[in-house]
Amino acid sequence: MTPIRPGEDLGYGDLREVANVDRLLEGVDVLIHMAGTSVERPLPEVIENNLVGLHAVYEGARRHAVRRIVFASSNHAIGMYGVDEHLGLDCDFRPDGFYGLSKMWGEGIARMYWDKHGIESVCVRIGSALERPTESRHLSTWFGLDDLLQFMMRCIEAPKVGFLVAWGVSANTRSYWSPTSCECLGYYPTQNSEEFAAEILGQPNPLDELGRRFQGGGFVGLDYTPPERRPARTRWRPELPGLSHNQLCLRQRTCTGLLHLCSIATEVRPPGGSAWWMPKRRTGIFLGAQGWRNNSDTSRSRCATRRSFGFRPPTVRFTHWATLRAKKARSSFSSAIIASMSKR
Ligand SMILES: NC(=O)c1ccc[n+]([C@@H]2O[C@H](COP(=O)([O-])OP(=O)(O)OC[C@H]3O[C@@H](n4cnc5c(N)ncnc54)[C@H](O)[C@@H]3O)[C@@H](O)[C@H]2O)c1
Repeated sequence: MTPIRPGEDLGYGDLREVANVDRLLEGVDVLIHMAGTSVERPLPEVIENNLVGLHAVYEGARRHAVRRIVFASSNHAIGMYGVDEHLGLDCDFRPDGFYGLSKMWGEGIARMYWDKHGIESVCVRIGSALERPTESRHLSTWFGLDDLLQFMMRCIEAPKVGFLVAWGVSANTRSYWSPTSCECLGYYPTQNSEEFAAEILGQPNPLDELGRRFQGGGFVGLDYTPPERRPARTRWRPELPGLSHNQLCLRQRTCTGLLHLCSIATEVRPPGGSAWWMPKRRTGIFLGAQGWRNNSDTSRSRCATRRSFGFRPPTVRFTHWATLRAKKARSSFSSAIIASMSKR
């Protein structure tokens, strides 16, 4: 590689090395940070390039008073959304692999360095940056190169961005994402994958059935556990009176937590068994020697055994305790408490 035009400078180096970062960032106002592992790879590699490397870059930005970083995030941070969902930027992360997870870290680090150190960031969740779309999925995810260039120019020129997340996508008719937050950058995409739709839809779709269902496409099927091989799930998720979900998680780790749970549950224990009320499901669960009784408002008469609840007392491991096999205390009160905690 050689510089394309005068004034352009070309350097090489691993961004995990401080010396390389210092060389890169000396006198820089805006960094467009694209380097890193850009596909799904084993976790250690992703950690090194996308977590350790990115941290080195942001620390370098502090040392060199870099004003702004454009961070190449990815649609794979939200790849587990279905293709029928239309997302705004306020959607939760749903990464489709370690690579997508690393982009969550990237957006998180960008947020933190703005809040704590005043380094601005634009996290651009790039769809598919390509000369032209080549497969069906790209009709929704395409980021045309003219638009990409326009986007980057706006990121450089915008007077103030603070911390900003944006979709890196063209004005595709079939886009999965709402083009919010582009206005404050002054980015107005001009390309639309629809002009290639007829041609692309006439070709075979390279994605398998799973890849067609999720926004992350082919990344979803990498190291994916199909539903039939997943741990058995229970529909039984009682809410213990007096404890929020967070409290439960917190108390789960402490002996006092269990004691507290016992004391709360004892208070609501009816004669001959123990009980919880689940307000959301309007369902009472009675535990007693007879098994489980579903006292649902909708089907009062339905009496369900553990089996029909799909509930198997699980093996529970506490971080501070020795392994406790709940099945040894199947009908006991504590097994139910433990189960409720482990299912959260
Ligand atoms: N191309 C897309 O459609 C797309 C989509 C979503 C996100 N992105 C993101 O945009 C960025 C650029 O994508 P790309 O397709 O050009 O990727 P790419 O793989 O072609 O380029 C990434 C470059 O980063 C370099 N790199 C990796 N680790 C490094 C390290 N520790 N130090 C220095 N360099 C390192 C690699 O050698 C490679 O040259 C990536 O961060 C990627 O995650 C791209």
